[in-house]
Amino acid sequence: MVAAPPRFLAKLAAQLWPDDPQAQDAFATALQTPLPSAPAIVWCRDRPEPSPFPVLPPYPWQPAWVDRLPPQVQPGRHDYHAQGYYYCMDVSSVFAGAVLGAIPIPEPVVVDVCAAPGGKAVLAWRYLQPRLLLANEPIGKRLGMLVGNLRRCRVAGVVLCQDSQQLATHLAHTADVVVVDAPCSGQSLLAKGEKNPGCFHPLTIRKNVNRQRRILANAVRLVKPGGYLAYMTCTYSPQENEENCRWLMTQYPGLQPVVVPDLAFAQSHVAEFPCYRCWPQAGMGAGAFTCLWHVRRQGAGANLPWSWLAQVAVARLEAKPWEP
Ligand SMILES: C[S@@+](CC[C@H](N)C(=O)[O-])C[C@H]1O[C@@H](n2cnc3c(N)ncnc32)[C@H](O)[C@@H]1O
Repeated sequence: MVAAPPRFLAKLAAQLWPDDPQAQDAFATALQTPLPSAPAIVWCRDRPEPSPFPVLPPYPWQPAWVDRLPPQVQPGRHDYHAQGYYYCMDVSSVFAGAVLGAIPIPEPVVVDVCAAPGGKAVLAWRYLQPRLLLANEPIGKRLGMLVGNLRRCRVAGVVLCQDSQQLATHLAHTADVVVVDAPCSGQSLLAKGEKNPGCFHPLTIRKNVNRQRRILANAVRLVKPGGYLAYMTCTYSPQENEENCRWLMTQYPGLQPVVVPDLAFAQSHVAEFPCYRCWPQAGMGAGAFTCLWHVRRQGAGANLPWSWLAQVAVARLEAKPWEP
């Protein structure tokens, strides 16, 4: 038998499903007794034949260059990983990135504001084939893994280490697509069997909400008129997800949330606008929130400030052909 959930987890479950004790139980149980992991790999070069791993049937929304693997498989240990054949992530991260598949702009300029360790940058690279990818990570000690992962997977781009306010100052209206995979309270770590003390505490959530709003307000300034902003987290609290989206749409009335038909099955039940959730009890990974906006704004985009980029670039990664 599973112990009664701790107070703040029980409160969150009741906030999410006020009229559904069964859903509350299923959610709390998935966090107290985690389901097996849900590994996925994002192929960055052609899949070898035969595939080195057993593969699970794809979800309808899953891109053709992603494979879902059985829980016991550890693709990070295979030589192909070191050789950059693929990037490993939880299935729910692939889910969160799936909104990028709804963006119709060819060869966009993409800014990933919170990029380390690089998962969404790899997804943006695969989905959008950007003409320029700016992968930003403001925390210096996280740059090594970002650069290492992008280099390993041969993702071309420029790596930056800037606060989002600096990005807004220098890159205003230059991006076709901006991705904010925000730092959050990380409640989904529990669904992976990891510890994250205090992640349901109201103060933790408040601190994260404030940081997310600041990042979002800066990020929206980067988007060109007609461009797109994607927001995602790996946490469950509505304050960090749907409520932040509502706040942003009040501040910037030109933001139109985009319907992503492939994710319609996962429409958030606590939102009155298009945005998507996967829950830990659904068996599709640890859980995620994702939302995409079309930015309807008058005016033209701005040119990229190449001399500033040259000054502040931490790494410039070129697309190199794969060796045979
Ligand atoms: C959820 S993680 C991003 C994961 C990454 N996008 C991926 O898919 O691999 C959030 C990232 O935001 C960074 N971060 C922390 N504070 C930030 C801030 N004020 N502005 C932008 N990013 C921040 C964290 O260091 C962390 O690397």
